[in-house]
Amino acid sequence: MAPSRKQEMGSQLFPLALLAAAHLLSAAAAAGPSVIVIGAGFSGISAAKTLSDAGITNLLILEATNRIGGRICKVPFAGINVEKGANWVEGVNGDQVNPIWTLANQLGLRKFYSNYDNLSSNTYKEEGGIYQHVTVQQIIDTADKVEAAGEKYSESLPVSGRGDISILAAQRLQNHVPSAALEMVIDYYKFDYEFAEPPRVTSLQNTVPLPTFANFGEDVYFVADQRGYEIVVHNTAHQFLKTTKDGVIVDPRLQLNKVVRRIQHYESGVTVTTEDGSVYKADYVVVSVSLGVLQSNLIQFMPTLPHWKLLAIYEFDMAVYTKIFLKFPYSFWPAGNGTQFFLYASDRRGYYPVWQHFEVEYPGAHVLLVTVTDEESRRIEQQPDSLTKSEAMEVLRAMFGKNIPEASDILVPRWWSDRFYRGTFSNWPIGVNRYEYDQIRAPVGRIYFTGEHTSEHYNGYVHGAYLAGIDSANILIKCIKTGNCKYEVKEKDAVN
Ligand SMILES: Cc1cc2nc3c(=O)[nH]c(=O)nc-3n(C[C@H](O)[C@H](O)[C@H](O)COP(=O)(O)OP(=O)(O)OC[C@H]3O[C@@H](n4cnc5c(N)ncnc54)[C@H](O)[C@@H]3O)c2cc1C
Ligand SMILES: *[C@@H]1O[C@H](CO)[C@@H](O)[C@H](O)[C@H]1NC(C)=O
Ligand SMILES: *[C@@H]1O[C@H](CO)[C@@H](O)[C@H](O)[C@H]1NC(C)=O
Repeated sequence: MAPSRKQEMGSQLFPLALLAAAHLLSAAAAAGPSVIVIGAGFSGISAAKTLSDAGITNLLILEATNRIGGRICKVPFAGINVEKGANWVEGVNGDQVNPIWTLANQLGLRKFYSNYDNLSSNTYKEEGGIYQHVTVQQIIDTADKVEAAGEKYSESLPVSGRGDISILAAQRLQNHVPSAALEMVIDYYKFDYEFAEPPRVTSLQNTVPLPTFANFGEDVYFVADQRGYEIVVHNTAHQFLKTTKDGVIVDPRLQLNKVVRRIQHYESGVTVTTEDGSVYKADYVVVSVSLGVLQSNLIQFMPTLPHWKLLAIYEFDMAVYTKIFLKFPYSFWPAGNGTQFFLYASDRRGYYPVWQHFEVEYPGAHVLLVTVTDEESRRIEQQPDSLTKSEAMEVLRAMFGKNIPEASDILVPRWWSDRFYRGTFSNWPIGVNRYEYDQIRAPVGRIYFTGEHTSEHYNGYVHGAYLAGIDSANILIKCIKTGNCKYEVKEKDAVN
């Protein structure tokens, strides 16, 4: 619940006098109901487009940063653009077609199949040297068998989620607790590398099997396009927002650098106040900010959100996934087929564990990517990049010898410290199911919610954000068009 301190701070920031300057969205009654969308990530843009397509065009999108795209974000590094947020189209070549795959193909997005099949020949010992292929393969086969048993168990559980357990508990049921360095790095690769949290925390029922891979296919494609993965968001935006020939959005309905700090909601409408003191009034608001932002006190809701809503927001986890890029004067790692991904098996679980080179994706750039998550992410965000670079160099020297060149540059994204994100993507905790999901998405009065964390099946993914935007917009459209604004949330035990 919002501490009272925050309310004091709020009233200082936004003196009531400012309310007089409120911008009135619905200038012309003919324009229909007005909707403010908060956040211009993929879910906000997809929600706004869905509203626009339904004839609800009296829109205003307020975005805190100076760009659209949110967690899909390219950054210049080492003379190229790399992705500090989402990088893969995940869930390809299955029974159903991932809508992002369709979009990526329409846009001619440059993308590469990621092949992890040869990890067993590319796993390094902490003390140096490489593990024998058969040794690693044995560990992988065992881990796969344990996961398959977990999947069987998972499918036997009641849909309510009451019987849900952690992935770690499911492993224990098979007498399997990864504890040696090699077992841990394989375990990390299988779970943390996907969900950004350890098996101790992650729900078995909601991730094994994972709807993304079960429905859309097991394959993942790495996006390496100098226009950025974010062009999927731009493309969606250009379909309903006024855009110049050069692709610059000039539509006044998109307002950048607008940090929403307060949402007041009444029976008759909403008032949204931004950090610069602007006040906007509308009939409805769609909140698409991340779960991490909702869990922080950046935005004050007045009156405060009901207890059931706060519980749903607080019960989910906002995970942290950090993609550290390193630039070298030349390449010194093995190149060629079946070498792109390699593992470092430290005694310290999650210590610079999963590595990737880009000899094909970014030829000549001499860039490596190492991924860390969770506690390591938080630790690394709080230390200087020079220290992170020396830690990473030490690991690389253990793998490739003392004579490798020093990295000339490093990129350490800080999603967790960033007040507009507070993490990277949501992870379903144990025992959470459709019921909590319904609550996290459910509107409160005139406030509607969207974002990857509200996606029924695909939280944590680009397609989840995109589809959630459509779904949440449709709930609001139904309310506007039929006058039926009731949103039924089922009892936990009634879910099946
Ligand atoms: C490091 C990382 C790696 C990932 N890897 C993948 C991947 O490989 N494949 C995949 O499918 N998915 C991946 N994801 C997940 C995917 O990027 C997200 O699920 C998706 O982009 C979320 O979109 P969204 O619209 O829900 O949220 P966001 O993109 O966070 O959009 C919300 C917007 O709200 C804005 N905002 C926040 N606070 C305020 C405020 N107070 N006022 C106004 N605006 C505000 C933010 O600036 C942001 O633009 C990754 C994410 C990260 C961060
Ligand atoms: C790498 O694999 C691809 C496809 O599997 C093949 O076409 C190509 O010839 C291989 N290259 C080398 C150097 O082996
Ligand atoms: C697997 O990796 C090893 C070591 O890097 C490499 O020598 C081998 O060619 C790769 N095998 C395949 C099938 O790609």
